[in-house]
Amino acid sequence: MGRGRYPARLKVAPPPPELAARYLHDWPGRELYLHPERFPPLSSPGLFGDTRPLELDVGCATGDLVLALAAAHPEANYVGVDIVAKPLWRAVERAARAGLSNVRFIHADARLIYRAVPDGALRAAYVHFPAPLLRNRQRNQLLISAELLTQMERCLAPGGVLSVVTDHPEVYAELLRLLPLAPALHLVEPADWSAGLTELVKSHYHRRWEARGRQIRRAELVRCPDTTNRLTPER
Ligand SMILES: C[S@@+](CC[C@H](N)C(=O)[O-])C[C@H]1O[C@@H](n2cnc3c(N)ncnc32)[C@H](O)[C@@H]1O
Repeated sequence: MGRGRYPARLKVAPPPPELAARYLHDWPGRELYLHPERFPPLSSPGLFGDTRPLELDVGCATGDLVLALAAAHPEANYVGVDIVAKPLWRAVERAARAGLSNVRFIHADARLIYRAVPDGALRAAYVHFPAPLLRNRQRNQLLISAELLTQMERCLAPGGVLSVVTDHPEVYAELLRLLPLAPALHLVEPADWSAGLTELVKSHYHRRWEARGRQIRRAELVRCPDTTNRLTPER
């Protein structure tokens, strides 16, 4: 497995029922697709019972980013989503050890959960080190997609941020290629990137690819406050 620690090989047990009830939601794809009404809204009121700002980590693995953000920002709520269960079990262990009350994890296919997010419910979303395109027939499995961008245009609150980080030039190129489909998302100049995010944490994958000398590319997209004043993304 050339892409590093394979999540399914983690040696970790399922969380005990009380921790699972506190931190972990299981949203099976088929049920989510056929009966979305059976799931709570993916929002602060829906998952935390409050109205704090909400941030979403898509493909969060063991939660490196989302746990660091939750600890640094107790005034906000954080949700990590991953399609593989084992890394989420590890993330739950870590959340419990840190005593965090502002983080939840959802075991689900991220591509099916956007529709559960109410309009403007997110302050930020992160898609960091998404799996690259390995074969052309996997194109519809990519997390960087037209669906992601158009859904983020809807789900992000005005001024909200979508952060994408990748070590794959083709993933970055795909993001830029798709950007015109979401004209309310404005590509931010590097000088204006959220400093806190860069300095706060580098995930396992981030450190690994950086140590191997791979160039890390990053894009930050801001949801324009007013769609009548849409900005043209710079190229
Ligand atoms: C390379 S890891 C990156 C983890 C983390 N974002 C980071 O920056 O370290 C990619 C993660 O995306 C998850 N993933 C891939 N496809 C997914 C999907 N459709 N829905 C949710 N998670 C997905 C994988 O299980 C894996 O944990």
